[in-house]
Amino acid sequence: MAGNAELPAIPDRTVSDAVETFAASNNVPKHVAIIMDGNGRWARARHLPRVAGHRAGAQAVRKVIESAIRSGVAWLTLYAFSSENWRRPADEVIDLTGLLRHYLRHEVAELHSQGVCLRFIGERDRFDGDIQADLKSAEALTVGNSRLNLVIALSYGARGEIVAAVRRAIGLVQSGDRSLDQIDEAVFGSLLETRGMPDPDLLIRTSGEHRLSNFLLWQCAYTEFVFQDVLWPDFGPNEFSAALAEFTKRERRFGARPS
Ligand code: FPP
Repeated sequence: MAGNAELPAIPDRTVSDAVETFAASNNVPKHVAIIMDGNGRWARARHLPRVAGHRAGAQAVRKVIESAIRSGVAWLTLYAFSSENWRRPADEVIDLTGLLRHYLRHEVAELHSQGVCLRFIGERDRFDGDIQADLKSAEALTVGNSRLNLVIALSYGARGEIVAAVRRAIGLVQSGDRSLDQIDEAVFGSLLETRGMPDPDLLIRTSGEHRLSNFLLWQCAYTEFVFQDVLWPDFGPNEFSAALAEFTKRERRFGARPS
């Protein structure tokens, strides 16, 4: 059996010409990835339970999707739940998965009407069956949309993703589908969960932390990082614009000599 046999097919999608033209002319990053951090501290500062911070964080998710659409960003990837987050206290895990369930049931129709194409990366089989079914139907409903590709990382961990890709690569070689020499960066990238996606141009992390926390380790090889002190629930259009403005100042050389 080929090593990537269990991977579902991802249909080809292109962003509309108008958005691409706008993005190119304004040096807007094609793909923005965000580590949404600081919900707990936001809640603590207000003497609220942590779940209130996560609920406020979900409101900020709505706003950032609107900002991304308005800015002409083609891909937005949000780190909503890491594979390590299962180790949080049981009541917080229940709150977070409950919030996800609510989000999927109540927001997907609106996202669809806005032309958002949804895709989920991560170990979806660790979630309850009803959530897995909702993830699948949200992807199926929105697969034809192209205004914004919204990728939500759920129970995602980059090291686990890379190890799974290594196993798939070994499977391809063992089955004779590929020779060892044919396993190059492009083939390896196609075995990751992010296959078919451009690498992030810009990664934003909120809450003043300066870490990647096991997020998109392979994909961020040449990504520009912007760290902001704002706590995620307070992140809005101004913070998004500020990050995009900072991005436009960066000179990206991808390892080449300065001209
Ligand atoms: C990090 O803050 C945030 C999370 C672990 C969860 C992110 C979830 C949301 C933004 C809301 C749900 C989103 C969707 C798409 C349904 P933290 O709890 O680690 O904050 P702290 O570092 O201040 O404790």
